[in-house]
Amino acid sequence: MLTIQGINQYYGGSHTLKDVDFEVAQGSRTCLMGRNGMGKTTLLKCVMGLEPVKGGKILFQGKDITRASPQDRARLGIGYVPQGREIFPQLTVEENLRVALAAKRSKRVPERIYELFPVLKEMAHRRGGDLSGGQQQQLAIGRALVLKPEIMLLDEPTEGIQPNVVQEIGAVIRRLNQEEGLTILLVEQKLPFARATADRFSILNNGRMVAQGPMDALDDELISEHLSV
Ligand SMILES: Nc1ncnc2c1ncn2[C@@H]1O[C@H](COP(=O)(O)OP(=O)(O)OP(=O)(O)O)[C@@H](O)[C@H]1O
Ligand SMILES: [Mg+2]
Repeated sequence: MLTIQGINQYYGGSHTLKDVDFEVAQGSRTCLMGRNGMGKTTLLKCVMGLEPVKGGKILFQGKDITRASPQDRARLGIGYVPQGREIFPQLTVEENLRVALAAKRSKRVPERIYELFPVLKEMAHRRGGDLSGGQQQQLAIGRALVLKPEIMLLDEPTEGIQPNVVQEIGAVIRRLNQEEGLTILLVEQKLPFARATADRFSILNNGRMVAQGPMDALDDELISEHLSV
């Protein structure tokens, strides 16, 4: 569904992604792993079109999107939940969700989003900035779902969130995948959450893809070499 072929990315003179090949299969839940600063967020930004790539190709559902704008990628079905959530703190919950609808004719927030996250319905008229971290994360996921994506990219959705909300977010990710066939590309450093949520893993080390496979194949050797701190 998503195919990345030999991409490179630079921040000025610093070479961040190095000849990255990567494939996310339709219907899979793939976890992109790696220690801090290895390039995980940068890779998601390249998929979303928020960072340009040098050389290589990005294909989505067979279509070359390497030079497409972020808006076009969203319209084609790529949803993005950024690291740190990036909701609008001054806007209400409902307004945050409606902003994502700007590209569409309908301005109604799909009921499904409130069904998945009842707390967003309860808080529809509260300002985003007044929500807890976990609620803001649910809002960021809801916002990505508004355009009914085919694939959802989630960048460390459990960062700084209480355990009970982490559980809920994991359950929603699995539900979306199983009930709606939504393909998931998750960046996650917490092993238990990664194992419970994803069925495949890929590991970035210093901007290179160094390992991938089914989640069962993520063994102690790979963990100590590439993940543990
Ligand atoms: N806007 C930027 N300008 C310059 N360098 C950057 C920028 N964003 C990230 N970097 C650098 O690029 C490298 C990869 O960063 P990236 O944010 O992709 O890592 P990450 O794997 O997501 O890390 P983390 O787990 O801490 O979120 C790091 O060395 C980082 O300092
Ligand atoms: Mg990151």
